[in-house]
Amino acid sequence: MMSAPRNINYADDKKKKLASPDSSPPDIPKLMPGGNYIKIGKDSAHSTCLIFAPPAEEVGVLAKYLAIFEKHGVNLLHIESRPSAKLPENYEFMVECAPLGNIGAAIEDIKHQSEYLNIITRDYKDNKGTVPWFPRRIRDLDRFANQILSYGAELDSDHPGFTDPVYRARRKYFADIAFNYRHGEKLPFVEYTEEETETWGKVFRQLTTLYPTHACKEHNHVFPLLVENCGYREDNIPQLEDISNFLRDCTGFTLRPVAGLLSSRDFLAGLAFRVFHSTQYIRHPSKPYYTPEPDVCHELLGHVPLFADPDFAQFSQEIGLASLGAPDEFIEKLATCFWFTVEFGLCRENGKLKAYGAGLLSSFGELQYSLEDKAEIRPFDPPKTALQKYPITEFQPIYYVAESFEDAKEKMIKYAATIPKGFGVRYNAYTQSIEVLDSKPQIQRLVNNISSEMAILIDSLKKM
Ligand SMILES: [Fe+2]
Repeated sequence: MMSAPRNINYADDKKKKLASPDSSPPDIPKLMPGGNYIKIGKDSAHSTCLIFAPPAEEVGVLAKYLAIFEKHGVNLLHIESRPSAKLPENYEFMVECAPLGNIGAAIEDIKHQSEYLNIITRDYKDNKGTVPWFPRRIRDLDRFANQILSYGAELDSDHPGFTDPVYRARRKYFADIAFNYRHGEKLPFVEYTEEETETWGKVFRQLTTLYPTHACKEHNHVFPLLVENCGYREDNIPQLEDISNFLRDCTGFTLRPVAGLLSSRDFLAGLAFRVFHSTQYIRHPSKPYYTPEPDVCHELLGHVPLFADPDFAQFSQEIGLASLGAPDEFIEKLATCFWFTVEFGLCRENGKLKAYGAGLLSSFGELQYSLEDKAEIRPFDPPKTALQKYPITEFQPIYYVAESFEDAKEKMIKYAATIPKGFGVRYNAYTQSIEVLDSKPQIQRLVNNISSEMAILIDSLKKM
């Protein structure tokens, strides 16, 4: 089963979304509520997700499967079809089952009538039976593409592009290239259309007028470098491959395209490897200043500049490392900390508030609002911040302020130590893998490494 924040009811969220577009004055850019690409609510710990492929070219197969679920009294919360990752000529179904009914019997029936069937679960234990599964190697992140719970080509009925067949086809194109992406490949090059570039230009022009006065110094420091190195211009949507290479040189962060909504657990796990899952499509041209989900404007203008900052990169990775193998309730808390920092964080610079959260830096309206003393301001304090509820379709009523990224990181590390886990983890940048520190020899090796680093440090200090 997938885990995700359960403090927000997805159905309520949808109602809000429906009410939102018409409830704001027409000229005011609406909030871009999709902070990160985290799936909220639907993948509660009580539902079961199945992925299965029907035999090729069988007609009316969906009705046959639906009859099986009905026969065993299983209600479906979500159903979709998508290209099969295992059988190139085939497609597969992903269904999310409600907890009631005889799911076991339904699984048995479907298994006999499918090419394959996978049950997505987080209950897997390793050989020792103590550590829950999480990605250990960077290429394990490839698995997440098969665990997305809503394909990126799907649009809600209130989405600005819902009735636009051209836009929908375009969204499917973006979802497909991300779905087929594998670690180590070049990030897919996208030829953006003139209309898409125009939309980008409108957002770019508007936001860049605010950055000098509203964005934190780290964002303003990196932005000209992105202009110089990655083609950040109002008449050009930069390519993920160029940005990823730039970030790798700065902090070791890289980008991955994402095909759909990830669970909080999967999204945060990527950060442990300094990998950020990024969308590549752009919002619908009819509403250039509004998008109901993260798009390339949000990722490239909001997130990317900060990932080039070493302290911010380390802070982000700490949240990711803390999430590995953490119990569900702590995944929710860490996702909340992520929300109030990486998405909507403020920081203090020479006594003044500045924005560093990507949800702010990609929203003209909320970027101004957040610094106008209209909302409540509180100091970032993970044990308390982690419990704070928040709206996702309106401006935030509360913002949390980090004194510095270094300070936020130290607090995050202290908080992570309170998460009940029977093991410690460490990222090995040489092998791009996670080491689970649960044996004496490993810890001894780590102590030896730190001793070597200390020797270098002392030597350098002497020479200064
Ligand atoms: Fe985001």
